[in-house]
Amino acid sequence: MLSVVVLISGGGSNLRALLQRCEEAGFPARVVAVGADRDAPGIVHADEFGVPTFLVPFPYYDSREEWGQALLREIRKWAPDVVVLSGFMRLLPDAVVDALGPRLINTHPAYLPEFPGAHAVRDALAAGATETGASVILVDHGVDTGPVLARERVPVLPGDTEGTLHDRIKPVERRLLAQVLRDVADGTLDLEGAA
Ligand code: GAR
Repeated sequence: MLSVVVLISGGGSNLRALLQRCEEAGFPARVVAVGADRDAPGIVHADEFGVPTFLVPFPYYDSREEWGQALLREIRKWAPDVVVLSGFMRLLPDAVVDALGPRLINTHPAYLPEFPGAHAVRDALAAGATETGASVILVDHGVDTGPVLARERVPVLPGDTEGTLHDRIKPVERRLLAQVLRDVADGTLDLEGAA
């Protein structure tokens, strides 16, 4: 059974979908803890599913590096096989990426390398793209620049807003993440080899 720590910053709808997926018979992963860098509303999903949580608030630390080390200590308590960034909207210090990689995965609401960064859905609409997508990647030292583990196209429809488009992308992200975790668990996907 693959043990997973999930980090969130926001509403955590993708976290919730993963928690539900983990309850399905035969799904080979379990979320052992959920962490956040702020008072993220999505923590309620972990509470509801009885999954332990931890909070490492960024402003409490003197530097990004100190915050990163505190976050790393919390994550290591759970000795996870994999850490998933699921709407975690803060860049991790290089030392944390080095400590957790390559078993550090990020989901992203665009077809990377298109539209990296914190506003991928908005950026795709602003660029007039007719299609965007969803990606699951390994985290490296860049912003959404790591090796792509899975990605899929999602069409932009006439009249799409940031909200409607994001709502159509998220189910694809959830499916791709579940498949990646399955593949890691059964050895089909070797994260060390993918790095
Ligand atoms: C997801 O679409 C995730 O890929 C994105 O934030 C959303 C979180 O939604 N992450 C990024 O944009 C990171 N660059 P949720 O809080 O409802 O799960």
